[in-house]
Amino acid sequence: MAEKSKIILLSGLQPTGPLHLGNYLGAVRNFVRLQDEFAGRFFVFVADYHSLTENYDPKEKQNQILMLGAELLAAGLDPKKVTLYVQSDIPEVTELCWVFNTVTPISFLERMTQFKDKASRQKENINMGLFDYPVLQAADILLPKAAAVPVGEDQVQHVELTRDIARFFNRKFGETFPESKPVLTATPRVMSLSEPEKKMSKSIPGSFISLSDSPEEIKQALRRAVTDTGPGPGRSDLPRRSDLQAMSPGVANLFGLLREFGTPEDVGAMERAYRGGTIKYVELKDLLAARIAEYFSEFRKKRAQLLKNPSAVKKIFAAGGKKIRAIASKTMREVRQKVGLR
Ligand code: TYM
Repeated sequence: MAEKSKIILLSGLQPTGPLHLGNYLGAVRNFVRLQDEFAGRFFVFVADYHSLTENYDPKEKQNQILMLGAELLAAGLDPKKVTLYVQSDIPEVTELCWVFNTVTPISFLERMTQFKDKASRQKENINMGLFDYPVLQAADILLPKAAAVPVGEDQVQHVELTRDIARFFNRKFGETFPESKPVLTATPRVMSLSEPEKKMSKSIPGSFISLSDSPEEIKQALRRAVTDTGPGPGRSDLPRRSDLQAMSPGVANLFGLLREFGTPEDVGAMERAYRGGTIKYVELKDLLAARIAEYFSEFRKKRAQLLKNPSAVKKIFAAGGKKIRAIASKTMREVRQKVGLR
């Protein structure tokens, strides 16, 4: 057996709706790979405190938390290899966030692109939590002293801020926290189906395909995906499709997805058709829809089973919560003492 690594891995996801292809290709699939390849401690959690910063219905929150747990397990997360827990089961994380607030310059938070994005999308609810969101994320990561954070590209800036916060803390109070680094996949930024210059996002309807979507829903979502006017008779004014690099963002995104979910033959045939100018995007879309539906068919079954029996998910959360609480209280004892509390 591989020697147990001392490096700690950690990642979190917000319970704000079903997982989509961006979450899967940017993060969740990597968790499943890392849990097998990596012999150290690995924590994955449901970021429910973070999710309170968006508009939501409190009556829905517990269902969303359970659904995310069920989806992570259905996607292949193994609770024997990964500690799965709910963030609000360790209120210590908000205490650490408070301490970190006192070493974080406001100007660093003003630079966060996610804050700016979200603030522009929810102008009527630009709350303090939204602004402080990255500091709570730093507390998530550093509470168990995680050095490696598997995430999509949109979270890299938050991990870099975590590193700054660790440095500021260590400089002021003595060496305590590691300098964490993001761990990216080959597809760290899956683009939106409806606006392919932007990332696929839960908060933009029409931009995403959920892992739980039925084959028909996947097909319909892809049929609506933006491509370009495409080749055809009378369109000799279009640039020649001899160069795959010159693909429009929408088409490039569909090819990117076909590379992940299709066979090498699928990709070869579609690339040849593209180069030859004979491609019909509806065929590319329907082929991709069939491959995605097939890829997640087992996921859909397991998810449905787990949602029928949520006590299994609750038990896993409870066991995970117990493990992380022990670690959290140890770190907080150290932090309180270092900053001069009791
Ligand atoms: P969340 O819930 O928005 O997203 C979960 C994970 O999915 C990745 N992701 C994507 N990857 C590629 N392409 C996309 N279009 C795409 N959309 C989302 C995200 O990068 C993320 O890895 N702030 C985090 C939750 C969090 C966290 C943490 C993560 C809270 N504390 C500590 C790591 C460590 C978030 O909003 O994820």
